[in-house]
Amino acid sequence: MNTLKDERAASAKLRNIYTVEHGVLPEDHWSRTGHKGGVLWLTGLSGSGKSTLAVGLENALHGLGYQAFVLDGDNVRAGLNSDLGFSPEHRSENIRRIAEVAALFAQSGTLVITAFISPYQDDRDAAREIIGDGFHEVFVDSDLEICEARDPKGLYKRARAGEIPEFTGISAPYETPSNAELSVNTGTLDIGASVHFVLDHLEGHFTQRPSLIRVA
Ligand code: ADX
Repeated sequence: MNTLKDERAASAKLRNIYTVEHGVLPEDHWSRTGHKGGVLWLTGLSGSGKSTLAVGLENALHGLGYQAFVLDGDNVRAGLNSDLGFSPEHRSENIRRIAEVAALFAQSGTLVITAFISPYQDDRDAAREIIGDGFHEVFVDSDLEICEARDPKGLYKRARAGEIPEFTGISAPYETPSNAELSVNTGTLDIGASVHFVLDHLEGHFTQRPSLIRVA
């Protein structure tokens, strides 16, 4: 029996899939918003500050006139990916679906900020492949000791007590990015400084009107 993965691997033509051309080109979206679409792919341990940074960026970019939108692990797992757990296979599928969704958002001209642990290099590389141009991997770098001390959801404590299997950093691996476009040390920078640091990096990458980004 064919698995879903086998079916996906079969060519679109064999599956009678014919893609539809869009009426509005990416450049048309860009000239309306003043910036290109793309994906800021935040990766890091639970408690490293991904969600806080993503939301801070979304707010700052919105204030600067960008069309920006956050896709966050906990939110997406409550809906689209509610059938997935935390085994390596399920995490891969989680990341694959997010990458496909983020690619569609990016095509629509949105600057997407994703906040997923995405612990495996291969999965992040696959996301890079799916999204193509405009993919920026941002390592939200905070030591395990700091994340565990913060423990905003109390999950590390429960993982140490053996209540949560395959918990990243405790009983499941986190592979430090080897080719990230940017690393933000959220262990030393506060949230405001982290947001500015990423905004600085964005300058010139997505803007068509350079004056859109004015970092104080
Ligand atoms: S990923 O590894 O597949 O990228 P994702 O970012 O979607 O993970 O979800 C991580 C969130 O799920 C964490 O912030 C935490 O709240 C919750 N979670 C529940 N179980 C686990 C686990 N075993 N490992 C890591 N996070 C978990």
